[in-house]
Amino acid sequence: MIDPATVPVYHLYNGDAIPCIGMGTFGSDRVSPEEVAGAVAGGIRAGWRLFDCAACYGNEDKIGASFRAAFDEGVVKREDLFIMTKVWNDMHRNVAASCRKSIEDLQCGYVDMLFIHWPFPNYHPPFCDVNTRNPDSKPFSVEEFLDTYRQIEALVDEGLVRHIGISNMTIPKLDAVLSKLRIPPSACESELHPCFQQRELLAYLKVRNILPIAYMPLGSPRRPKRDILPEDVADMQLPEMQAIAKAHNCHPAIVCLKWALQRGTLPIPFSVHNYEANLAAAVTEKLTDEEMQTISTLERNNRLVKGQVFLWEGANDWHDLWDEDGVITGCTDC
Ligand SMILES: NC(=O)c1ccc[n+]([C@@H]2O[C@H](COP(=O)([O-])OP(=O)(O)OC[C@H]3O[C@@H](n4cnc5c(N)ncnc54)[C@H](OP(=O)(O)O)[C@@H]3O)[C@@H](O)[C@H]2O)c1
Repeated sequence: MIDPATVPVYHLYNGDAIPCIGMGTFGSDRVSPEEVAGAVAGGIRAGWRLFDCAACYGNEDKIGASFRAAFDEGVVKREDLFIMTKVWNDMHRNVAASCRKSIEDLQCGYVDMLFIHWPFPNYHPPFCDVNTRNPDSKPFSVEEFLDTYRQIEALVDEGLVRHIGISNMTIPKLDAVLSKLRIPPSACESELHPCFQQRELLAYLKVRNILPIAYMPLGSPRRPKRDILPEDVADMQLPEMQAIAKAHNCHPAIVCLKWALQRGTLPIPFSVHNYEANLAAAVTEKLTDEEMQTISTLERNNRLVKGQVFLWEGANDWHDLWDEDGVITGCTDC
């Protein structure tokens, strides 16, 4: 057990504290809702206080039972936890219903941070194949994004949501919307790991007081099959990562987490077997400057979540989702 009081915190733009590391809860189509809920129950007792949930992970009701049991048994109080969830793409026009359902399933009364999971309403069914395309999918629209965002602002006004999060954003999309938001986003969840460091995005977020949250911080070795390509690099297997892990007598996963923390991001690793060691990464010896420098050379531009299933008719390929040339592909109101 790690004493949660010893786990460092970040401060969000309004001064509210958030633990510096959170537990992911996406079973990657491989780990059952019951197993994930078991890790959450064990995680709370091991000292975890921040949980990254999502409506589309299909396990919020089971996780909610773990929260409820921890409250009822007096292990933690609701206000000791920081619970995050996300609105899935098919609920952008009905955010309140999605939020209320998550709150009911998670048995948490309110949400500490509600994210727009993806910045467009393009829906794909769970467990779908990488070639699945929805004929209703559309390119990013500023107006549609703002409409979704305003619904979350209303939930903040109502007291159901404390903070607003955005996810899977790019700098051009942020540029298009940030000045139009009444309540600023507190955090942005993005894919971030040693072989996909997104330095420009990180710098952009930091100067705007938006906390970068690192998803897939270990390079997601057991990600869904649709997100695996033969050319992908396995971050934790790189010799540099292995050597640093050896020097610290730990698994390369712990090196990934320490690196994420020391570069000012908030990692949300998923684990059903190693969550105690992962939390300990936040309170044990740091990487040296030299080790941090070595990891900075491992950038491979290896985006793992390409997002092909969100493409619209007429789009070329997954690069169209990420605005790599600085222009929002297909947007008609940007
Ligand atoms: N916003 C978004 O669009 C988005 C997208 C993807 C993910 N996410 C969030 O990010 C979270 C993390 O991403 P992820 O689950 O894909 O990948 P990840 O955290 O990078 O990797 C998880 C995998 O690493 C293994 N692992 C964890 N700690 C380990 C350790 N100390 N030693 C050895 N192996 C270890 C786990 O296995 P064991 O269970 O055996 O430990 C699991 O298979 C998700 O759960 C979700 O909450 C958000």
